[in-house]
Amino acid sequence: MFKEKIVKELTNVLESKGFEDISVEGFIEVPPSPELGDYAFPCFRLAKQMRKSPIEIATELAGVFAELSWIKDVVANNGYLNFFIDPDHYSREVVGQILEQGEDYGARNYGGTVVIDFSSPNIAKPFSVGHIRSTVIGNSLAKIHTHLGFAVERVNHLGDWGTQFGKLMVAYKSWGDSSALQEEPLKELLRIYVKYHQEAEKDGSLDDNARAWFKKLEDGDQEALELWKEFRKVSLIEFKRVYERLGVEFDSYDGESFFNDKMEAIVNYLEEKQLLSESDGALVVDVGEDLPPCLIKKKDGATLYATRDITAATYRWDRYKFEKLLYVVGVTQSLHFEQVFRVLKQMGYSWADRCIHVPFGTILFGEESMSTRKGNVIFLEDILDQAVNKVKEILKERNLPADQGTDIAEKVGVGAVIFNELSHNRIKDIEFDLDKIISFEGDT
Ligand code: ARG
Repeated sequence: MFKEKIVKELTNVLESKGFEDISVEGFIEVPPSPELGDYAFPCFRLAKQMRKSPIEIATELAGVFAELSWIKDVVANNGYLNFFIDPDHYSREVVGQILEQGEDYGARNYGGTVVIDFSSPNIAKPFSVGHIRSTVIGNSLAKIHTHLGFAVERVNHLGDWGTQFGKLMVAYKSWGDSSALQEEPLKELLRIYVKYHQEAEKDGSLDDNARAWFKKLEDGDQEALELWKEFRKVSLIEFKRVYERLGVEFDSYDGESFFNDKMEAIVNYLEEKQLLSESDGALVVDVGEDLPPCLIKKKDGATLYATRDITAATYRWDRYKFEKLLYVVGVTQSLHFEQVFRVLKQMGYSWADRCIHVPFGTILFGEESMSTRKGNVIFLEDILDQAVNKVKEILKERNLPADQGTDIAEKVGVGAVIFNELSHNRIKDIEFDLDKIISFEGDT
């Protein structure tokens, strides 16, 4: 709507300068970042006709733009004309449309399937506040795509396999407390995980032991499998409780372990396509000069995170024939996804272009970074509880009813945590500050 208005004004301005046959429509862009304005018009294509440099043209056009109530500013920037819409006008316009159209606002009928891989916490490593961004952003993307008319498949690619299970088994057998595991599984798993790492520093045989247990698990040993199942089960119960509070649901919890028996076929296919090469005894795929090779199999034959992701992508294609496959995962994994997508491409899958990594910045905690091994972890559920308790206090201070058999504090507290995630620029690192999140002043 503002775009059309800009087209009209810009055409007028150009006409007043004697350029009548220049079509502006189709060339208005949305700048990559909001600091550069809401819309931009590149002046490069006018250079020939106007016999001036794009920079000069932009400056000249910016100078003659009429004062318009709905435009806050028009700025010449490196050959671009950048438009800033007056926020008051913008919000009035949009809110007006929303009120008029109600729930249909923004709806479309695209059709087709969009698979969204999000949240995806690691079992045996706690569901920490670090996973909240993926959960909240992924859930919003799922809602938006549903509203746009796509069939959305919400996939939780649980980190439920890997060498850390060997460590957990050793730890549990030595120091585990089965009733604590039932009552507070994630905390108990963290406790023994931390203990393991403390002890392993003194006693090197623990790591050998852990490797042996993981091997047992991979070979289908009964006891190892039972333990793994139990860890997975109790963790999942706890995850689901948090998801319920956040209002998040999944269509699939097929995590990494689900692909155990499906990887061999993929590795064989890579072999057949002659994409595998050997590097220090490991099997890798070269993905180009500019990136390190993608590791497919370790020296000892063990598969890796990437092997599972390549397998998962092909499985999802077979199953969903998706329009898009979104991975809502932190920016620290950008290299991983770039490698995986390139391998898929080299395997000859044109749908590799439909795979998109949606990265986000890291949550920072002042000086302290989170370290699972040291037990330096903030649990998501504790954050939610703290937020809710703070809201209760605030309600009390202000003599507002904290609880009249309603769940005001729960809704406001959890809502504030969700809002906090969505209100930040996705790609920026954010400082975690609970007081700010539930402050009654400011945006929240
Ligand atoms: N479990 C991983 C982590 O917590 C995230 C998994 C993301 N999804 C994927 N298909 N790799 O770091």
